[in-house]
Amino acid sequence: MCGIVGYVGRRDAVAILIKGLKRLEYRGYDSAGIAVFTGDSGFACKKKKGKVNELSRILEQEPLTGNIGIAHTRWSTHGVPSDTNAHPHLDCSQEIAVVHNGIIENFQELKDTLIIEGHTFLSETDTEVIAHLIEKFYAGDLEDAVRKAVKELHGSYAICVTHKKEPYRIVGARLDSPLVIGVGENENFLASDIPAILEYTRDIIYVQNNEIVSIDLDSVSVKSLDGMKIEKTPEKINWDITQAEKGGFPHFMLKEIFEQPDVLRKIINTRLSGENIHFDELNLTEDDLVKTRNIAIVACGTAYHAGLTGKYMLEECTRTPVWADTSSEFRYRDPIVGDDTLMIVISQSGETADTLAALREAKKRGAKVLALCNVLGSSITRESDGVIFTHAGPEIAVASTKAYTAQLATLYLFTLYLARLKGALSEARIKELLSEFKRIPYLLEEILTRYKVDGNEIAHYAKDFKAYYEKGHTKSFFLYLARNINYPNALEGALKLKEISYISAEGYPAGEMKHGPIALIDENPWVVCIATKSRTYDKMRSNIQEVKARNGIVVAIVTSGDENIRSLGLNYVIDVPAVDEFFSPLLIALPLQLLAYYVALEFGYDIDQPRNLAKSVTVE
Ligand code: F6R
Repeated sequence: MCGIVGYVGRRDAVAILIKGLKRLEYRGYDSAGIAVFTGDSGFACKKKKGKVNELSRILEQEPLTGNIGIAHTRWSTHGVPSDTNAHPHLDCSQEIAVVHNGIIENFQELKDTLIIEGHTFLSETDTEVIAHLIEKFYAGDLEDAVRKAVKELHGSYAICVTHKKEPYRIVGARLDSPLVIGVGENENFLASDIPAILEYTRDIIYVQNNEIVSIDLDSVSVKSLDGMKIEKTPEKINWDITQAEKGGFPHFMLKEIFEQPDVLRKIINTRLSGENIHFDELNLTEDDLVKTRNIAIVACGTAYHAGLTGKYMLEECTRTPVWADTSSEFRYRDPIVGDDTLMIVISQSGETADTLAALREAKKRGAKVLALCNVLGSSITRESDGVIFTHAGPEIAVASTKAYTAQLATLYLFTLYLARLKGALSEARIKELLSEFKRIPYLLEEILTRYKVDGNEIAHYAKDFKAYYEKGHTKSFFLYLARNINYPNALEGALKLKEISYISAEGYPAGEMKHGPIALIDENPWVVCIATKSRTYDKMRSNIQEVKARNGIVVAIVTSGDENIRSLGLNYVIDVPAVDEFFSPLLIALPLQLLAYYVALEFGYDIDQPRNLAKSVTVE
């Protein structure tokens, strides 16, 4: 986790670095810091516990000026959030400054040795060893010292390093944590992610594992760990910074919820030519896919819920056995995966450490790995055999919304593509489904138009929940019930709510109610029942009746026009347009996201940056 940024140029480095950090806050925000060369061989460092705004406040009171510097926004791994543990970290001579994203697994051994050698440590962090190691190896050439230092490190890192004696350059390196170079005119940048620097340049070089980079005013150099020069051509970024900003919405999360119809349109335009489905970047042969005997889907969090939905899609349409698992469980359970397995890893960021580790494990066991990923050039896309980009655009809110529906949409199309290749579904049914799929952006728009206006029904339900809670029902929580292909949506609805509103929430397959959870039902839980028209509709109606009979409060998501279900005495109703049951998860995801959003809004929480979380989880 953590976000790093570096700038060398002629402009005000502090302003550029602070702006960059704000755009990287999705990577962590428990402390922030900056180091800049202030001219006449001056060098200053400021660090502060809290969000980047806290650091900005300090800089307003005690301004720094300079044209070269590095900065960091932190998500703690080693050492509590504090001014001292904030980056940059310095060496004993206070001449070397380091910002780091990742984890140094052998930091304790290195620290013990460095202490014996006379180094003094100030923080509890793993990062500080990097500054002292560079100090140890420094003999007049920062790049050389960084190269020697990183060879000692086990774990993951993306770093930016400056030395007071070389106040014209920044040296960077990476292993398993992202780092990009922004190439400008008389200025160059380093950053964990493109939005931090996109305002200044669209020419980006993706730094690869075990590369050492050095940037100064008018040059960029990339070398291997052996010091061999590596030629790199910058890639042009064709998305806009406004895509990475709020665009008039109060929160990124709401903006991203409302972007979903356009994301679906983009996916349709990219993947469909008439009734032909294509994945140009796939890089797996038809033969690879046809000979697949089983499919394993592995991911974390929201991406896992998309994957679990994929299991229902793929089994139904391709008649291939599919299992889905969380990445952190997959790794340690000696999974049965071989050369007849297609492993699908799903990740918005492409940097999730558990998913990366699962991917490597599956490859070791001979599986072909296909990544469904949103971020170009990310580690997961580079290490997989094949890739399908999900085209959600940059997702900034920590709570994933548009990346989820983009993952679902991509899985739908991949399912139909594979079903066609395997001849597992009739051409007529594939065409029927594709034609229904093309309606989805309009149906999503219909839902969002309905819930756009201030004071909309879902916002009103959230208000009622808060009032109920404050009237003494402080044991209230949310239970999400669904069946079949919408069961993963129940898990996702619960995850969304708990991560931004801190209210306890659980997702359950409704059929499991009678095996335990029904004991929870009294007047406290608000039970969200996904009861749209489907093959399990009657069963869901029975579950609703069971909840009502025990005084539970029911929030039912139903198909528009279904008047019949209202006779069950539902407390709250959310309508979604009618759609083929197969695609219903795409529609139902939206009210679930909105409900979580409005509940968190009522309670006044920090929706885009919920506590204890970070957007990109690059630690195991
Ligand atoms: C929840 C959320 C997380 C991520 C998970 C995987 O809203 O965003 O649960 O889905 O951390 O992240 P990626 O998709 O980047 O691998």
